[in-house]
Amino acid sequence: MANAPALAIDGAEPIRSRPFPAWPVFDASDEAAVLDALRSGRWGSRLGEGYGRAFTERLETMHRCRRAIATANGTVALEVALKAVGVQPLDEVIVPAYTFLATATAVTTLGAIPVFADIDPATYTLDPASVATRVSSRTRAIVPVHIAGQPADMDGIIGVATTHGLRVVEDAAQAIGAAWRGRGVGAIGDAGTFSFQSSKNLNAGEGGAIVTDDDTIADRAWSLANCGRSPGGTWYQHEVAGSNHRLTEVQAALLVAQIARLPDQMMRRERSARLLESGLRDIPGLSTQSRPEGVTTHARHLFVIRYDASAFGDRPRSWFIRAMRAEGIPCSPGYEIPLHRMPGVLAARRTWSEIARATGRAIDIPTDPDAEDLPNTDRASREEGVWLGQSLLLGSDADMADVITAARRIREWCDSSS
Ligand SMILES: Cc1ncc(COP(=O)(O)O)c(C=O)c1O
Repeated sequence: MANAPALAIDGAEPIRSRPFPAWPVFDASDEAAVLDALRSGRWGSRLGEGYGRAFTERLETMHRCRRAIATANGTVALEVALKAVGVQPLDEVIVPAYTFLATATAVTTLGAIPVFADIDPATYTLDPASVATRVSSRTRAIVPVHIAGQPADMDGIIGVATTHGLRVVEDAAQAIGAAWRGRGVGAIGDAGTFSFQSSKNLNAGEGGAIVTDDDTIADRAWSLANCGRSPGGTWYQHEVAGSNHRLTEVQAALLVAQIARLPDQMMRRERSARLLESGLRDIPGLSTQSRPEGVTTHARHLFVIRYDASAFGDRPRSWFIRAMRAEGIPCSPGYEIPLHRMPGVLAARRTWSEIARATGRAIDIPTDPDAEDLPNTDRASREEGVWLGQSLLLGSDADMADVITAARRIREWCDSSS
């Protein structure tokens, strides 16, 4: 006890007080592109021309897919993609509960029912074996989420989908640039969606996209996101009840500039993540998101640490996070409330439950989260997951060494004070 290294949480000098790299990153190339779009005088979507076209062409090349459609954000990209693959009211869609709210609300917005399957305890991505147990006669689609930028087990997911004749819509909001067996995520399933919201590795403040290799899905998605218009139709001819989910030309210009620096940023993040993996794995009680061999590129949107409180004298994750922050390391618990326990999702489920009962449909919609069998999701959300953000990974090797030193200092203090 006498030699215990003091922690910054108790008032000792922190490991670091310098900030990690700021986000977003931009330079004269972004300014020039945005100015060019402004001066063009055409600020809305140019529907297949201009920066919008240039950006979607980049996405098509990157994903070796036939079509990309830019949207206003990642949430509506998911809604449109699900609708475009044929999801209808009261269909079931299997999703993880360890994800951002939109993965489930994109389903409920369509009047369909999200059914939660568990994640793999080591990768934190959707577990195909759990998905298989959730399939029913009403299941229409599966939404694997490439969480933290790591591709989900697409072999397993496509396998379940093929067996049961289901659609696959990849939620790649966090995973631009990631690849599964060499193929960019997004167009491995029937369709996939991205987010370009402020925190994302490719950022235009807000923005989204859908990619697909299927022209029928692409045409439907384009129409649904463009007020129900059709490519050959007139402006006020609306073939389906679509909505306006278009991306502006100014945002597209920013994305064209931003995407040019993505490969360099990805290399930097990957190097940092590898350093963190090897350094943190030596610390008893800490492990990191494990990487299946099918993951050829991890987009490194988040760096996930798995915290085992028993190795830290049973101090809860919230204490570890406070201790790391005090040492100058920004980190967070991430999704503390899994979606099967999220009040907004529960409210939507209760509504569908009542609708099903009132219309005499024998649909059993779970409304008690404790009755759902999602142990890995609960552990990751409530006890284990600690996130470092992507901009921290843009730091130097010395910055990563500080993260490891802080974690080691905290662990050693726990040892000496137990
Ligand atoms: C997994 C996931 N899906 C969907 C979204 C929704 O994207 P947006 O914020 O652009 O609507 C996000 C954004 O955080 C996300 O992380």
